[in-house]
Amino acid sequence: MIDQRALPGRLRFITCATVDDVCDAINTLAVRGAPALGATGAYGVALAARTLGNARSVRAAAKRIVATRPTAVNLAWGVGRAMHAFEHAGATGALAEAETIADEDVARNRALGAHGAELLGVGGTVLTHCNAGALACVGYGTALGVIRAAAERGKRPRVWVDETRPVLQGARLTAWELDRLGIDATLVADVAAASLMAAGEVDCVVVGADRIAANGDVANKVGTYGLAVLAHHHHVPFYVAAPTSTIDVRTPDGAAITVEERDPAEVTTFAGTRIAPLGMAVANPAFDVTPARLVAAIVTEAGIARRPYRRSLASHIRLAAAHSF
Ligand code: MRU
Repeated sequence: MIDQRALPGRLRFITCATVDDVCDAINTLAVRGAPALGATGAYGVALAARTLGNARSVRAAAKRIVATRPTAVNLAWGVGRAMHAFEHAGATGALAEAETIADEDVARNRALGAHGAELLGVGGTVLTHCNAGALACVGYGTALGVIRAAAERGKRPRVWVDETRPVLQGARLTAWELDRLGIDATLVADVAAASLMAAGEVDCVVVGADRIAANGDVANKVGTYGLAVLAHHHHVPFYVAAPTSTIDVRTPDGAAITVEERDPAEVTTFAGTRIAPLGMAVANPAFDVTPARLVAAIVTEAGIARRPYRRSLASHIRLAAAHSF
C-alpha cells in the first residue's frame, strides 16, 4: 500500500507481511481514511488466515485489527465481512472478500461522485477538510470524488484545502492529490475558514465521514464540526460524502460514537520539532461529531440523502445493497 506518512515528499510503498505490520501501518497512519481502513482490515484478515495456524488465532488477529482505531466504522465492517467469508470458506474466501471490497470501493466512490457533482455549480468554490480522496479509499475518493467528478463534467471547481491540524492530511495529502488531478486548489490554515465564508468565498463545504449514526450525526476529522457551525452561520451548504459502509445503523446518534484520542506528540510537535513546553497537558481527539441538523445532504453511492436522515439513510443502505457495483 502507499505509505501516506511519506507524502507529499515521496511516493513510497510498504508491504505488510504480518498482522503486526498491518496494525502498525494503521496505528501510525501509513494507511488512513475510513474506506481505506475497511479494505486494509479485510486484507489483514486474509493475511492472518493465510499465515496463522488456526481459526482461533485468526479471530484474535481480527479483534486486534479492529481495536487499532475505534471511530472509523469501515474498519470493523471490512474485518467483519472478511471474517464472515473466512468462517465459511477459509483463507481463500477471506482473500476473495477483501478483493471484492477493494473493487467495489472504487465503483461505489465513482457512483457517489457522480451524484455529488450535481450539487456543485459551474466554477463554484468548495472547501474541504482532512483528506477524503483516493488515498483515503482504495481509489477515486469520496469528498474529493465529488469534486473530481464535477471537474470531469467540466464544472471547473475551485477548492479551498484546509491544512487540517494536527497531522496535516489536507496540506500533505489533499493538496498532493488535487495537484496531480490538475484541479484548482488553494491551501489555507484551518483558522481561515470563517473569514473566507464571511467574504462569500465559499459556495459549499464537502467533507468525508468516519462514521454516520442512524440519525445522520457525522463523525469526521476534528475541526469538521466547527466548519459545519461556520457554514450554518454563513448560509453555506454543508455536505457529507461517504459510502453506505460508513453508515452505522447500530449507532443511534453521535453521542454513542467513540472518538479516538491520539498521541499528544501529534499536537506538541510540528514536523519533528517540539512546539510546546515539556510536560504540557494535551487533549488530542482525532474526530468530532457534527449534528445531523447542520448537514444539508449526505451523498452516498445510492444518491443524495436529505433530512430526516433516519429514513433516507436506511433507504440508501437498501438501495446500495440491491445494486451490484
Ligand atoms: O485520522 P484520519 O486521517 O484517518 O481521518 C480521516 C478522515 O477524517 C476522513 O475525512 C474520513 O475517514 C473519510 S475518508 C474518505
